[in-house]
Amino acid sequence: MKGIILAGGEGTRLHPITKVTSKQLLPVYNQPMIYFPLQTLLKAGIRDILIIVAPNHSGDFVNLLGSGKQFDARFSYEVQDKPEGLAQAFLIGSDFIGKDDVAMILGDNIFTHDFAPAIKTFKGGAKVFVKEVHDPHRFGIVEFDAMGNVVSIEEKPDNPKSNFAQTGFYIFDKHVVENVKSLKPSSRGELEIVDLAKIYLEKKQLQAEALQGEWIDAGTFESLYKASTIVRENDLGIDLNNFPKLQVQIKDVKKKMFL
Ligand code: TTP
Repeated sequence: MKGIILAGGEGTRLHPITKVTSKQLLPVYNQPMIYFPLQTLLKAGIRDILIIVAPNHSGDFVNLLGSGKQFDARFSYEVQDKPEGLAQAFLIGSDFIGKDDVAMILGDNIFTHDFAPAIKTFKGGAKVFVKEVHDPHRFGIVEFDAMGNVVSIEEKPDNPKSNFAQTGFYIFDKHVVENVKSLKPSSRGELEIVDLAKIYLEKKQLQAEALQGEWIDAGTFESLYKASTIVRENDLGIDLNNFPKLQVQIKDVKKKMFL
């Protein structure tokens, strides 16, 4: 399975900071935000990863992450000229995806859940990952049965049918690119991931899995602050012991800085 980290967007809720850098490069306690979704994919066993970025600070992502060699992975990069929706990632990444299944994670989402079992047992269709929330009116809400079959999915419903919100991790099968091609932009001019999921739902091929542990969307000042606290208290982020090449690089930097 291939992986995509969607790290474009404008980050308007973090203005003025995101006028001069990308949200996904901001620190979450002691590591850049993008290390967290990256770590989630690596831990799930995904090594072939496309990073989709906005044009403004695209070079900074390459400077930070490089070829992927130091993470024992292979990174590719694509630029999304305008933030025209989450589902556009699969059009931008169509050559990269080829005929493979693909897991996509949003570049500002932090998880402690282990996705490896879901990746290993994925057999086609699509899967969304959900988390119980107290304020379902604000989210994409997923209703599903005891077998994990999705019954309905609704964006910010007035009368939510469940308390389970769709998070920023998705798995789609190899038909994802042709399915996105059949989507029309929504009233806000975006290719919506909910509409993509609905194509699979209509074919009864959409599954949901409830997440264990933390899920943070670090896109606001409040959630970014909370994310830093949780990361600090639980020692989350890239475990440098797993990446000796990265550890050497960081030690070198420390030496240079006389730390
Ligand atoms: P959002 O938080 O919905 O959008 P944003 O990052 O532009 O922030 P704001 O709402 O404050 O303006 O995006 C969620 C994630 O998806 C984030 O990592 C950015 C990414 N994204 C893209 O890369 N391209 C897109 O077209 C969209 C809509 C989001």
